[in-house]
Amino acid sequence: MIEVARKGAQPQSVTMRAASGLLAMLLFMGFASARDGIDVGVDTEHPGTKLDRHVFGQFAEDLGTGLYGGIWVGRDSSIPNTRGIRNDVVAALKDLHVPVVRWPGGCFADEYHWQDGIGPAAARRPQPNYNWGGVLESNEFGTDEFMDFAQQIGTEAYISVNVGSGTVKEAADWLQYMTADAGSAWGKQRAANGHPAPYRVAMLGLGNESWDCGGHMSAAEYSFQLKLYARFVHNWNKAQPMQRVAVGPNGAKTEYTEAVMKLWKDNADWDWGLEGLSLHSYTVGKWPPSWPATDFGEPDYAKSLAETLKMDELIRTHSALMDQFDPQKKISLVVDEWGVWLAPSKGSNPGFLQQQNSQRDAVLAALNLNIFSRHADRVRNANIAQMVNVLQAMILTDGPKMVLTPTYYVFRMYVPFQDAVMLPVQYAAGSYAVGDFKLPRVDIIAARTQEGKIAVAITNVDAKQPATVQVDLGKVSAKTASGETLAAPKVDAVNTFDAPRTVVPKGVTVPVKTGRLTLTVPPASVTVLTTQ
Ligand code: AHR
Repeated sequence: MIEVARKGAQPQSVTMRAASGLLAMLLFMGFASARDGIDVGVDTEHPGTKLDRHVFGQFAEDLGTGLYGGIWVGRDSSIPNTRGIRNDVVAALKDLHVPVVRWPGGCFADEYHWQDGIGPAAARRPQPNYNWGGVLESNEFGTDEFMDFAQQIGTEAYISVNVGSGTVKEAADWLQYMTADAGSAWGKQRAANGHPAPYRVAMLGLGNESWDCGGHMSAAEYSFQLKLYARFVHNWNKAQPMQRVAVGPNGAKTEYTEAVMKLWKDNADWDWGLEGLSLHSYTVGKWPPSWPATDFGEPDYAKSLAETLKMDELIRTHSALMDQFDPQKKISLVVDEWGVWLAPSKGSNPGFLQQQNSQRDAVLAALNLNIFSRHADRVRNANIAQMVNVLQAMILTDGPKMVLTPTYYVFRMYVPFQDAVMLPVQYAAGSYAVGDFKLPRVDIIAARTQEGKIAVAITNVDAKQPATVQVDLGKVSAKTASGETLAAPKVDAVNTFDAPRTVVPKGVTVPVKTGRLTLTVPPASVTVLTTQ
């Protein structure tokens, strides 16, 4: 019996007809019901939607040691750095091809006054971080340092302006500082601070969680602010089109989605603009976060994955509502905060949101990336929270030490999916049950990469059993497919500074014979293969 049949993001009915035909064929051939071998059909003839590389974005808030210590160590540090930015972290991030980084928050953004963080070090104005541990932030890492960091890792800037405690003028001036030429007042100041050429700002967040830390505004109150910020905060650098992102829903609540989309639709003739609506959703269970980051077993593993899969329903809910106002899907749903939020590491400042990162979190990341790929027509941007040392981080640092997390490796393995065109896949996922939780046994996506190769990502959710997967790639000339598998001795295995290679991907190459490949993937693992 087929329990779950999944397909890539492609709304065209012709594709669905073709896909269901393929499924029928698999059933006829007796493959789709096999419990142990999973037959996967990739429909290379009916490409779907492009998976925007910005879905693999990162988030770097001024929070805990996410910036200070994690990225910024200062020019005089003994930790090797380039203009104060640590070299090891930059080198590691380059391998992720990070498309965009959101900064400076988060809740911090609505208390950040950018003018405190420009100019000579002595002129910087330290600021207590109200939201995150009450510590004093030196503001040594300001706009110019963030832009330097973005340039060093080769990424685009997603700037969140202060709507909660700032003014429209403050935000407009900031954009002038960043994007106007040196003839303008703020452009001249930027040049005096060492950067004559305008910076590029790819995305602009108009507030953050305005329903909560951003000012506890009703949807109507936020809409009033949004009109002003979307009208007056200009991008002056025409070399870089800028997407404006409005604050969107609080989880499943739809008030903000409806209010913002209605405002946008009813006023298309205004001299303003909006290109995105933000969605924040953490995998957290009950508040405050209490799930352990380490020393947990299979029931906790299954519970958190079941919770994370709700992302799909959440996106469906908001997408359906957005469709009512925007059937052409002009406005992106920007999932600019997502990831697992766990109990803080023992002994850490709870306001620093430090947590370890396990193989479970790697599987969880892959499942979310797969969900985004299935909604690629609406979800064109996403930013995992957060990049370094905070929440579901790519990288952990402690003084000069650095370690890459299992989640880091998933992002590295998924690089072939950046800007790839999704391909429909059909398979019987089967099920994996633990206590009350029933999950799909495997989760699989496929795409045609920018280089014209076929990439397949296979997540084996089952923590006990390996899965043998036979993939039919259709008409391909490739003779092999290769990539990596990320597996671990236990679901709660982590990388530490002392044992940094407990969870690292292993290379895998399989033959492709008449368009078919077969491989067996370990329990609780993520594999990405690309045809060669
Ligand atoms: O990522 C941590 C915090 O979570 C962000 O600052 C805020 O936007 C969200 O509540």
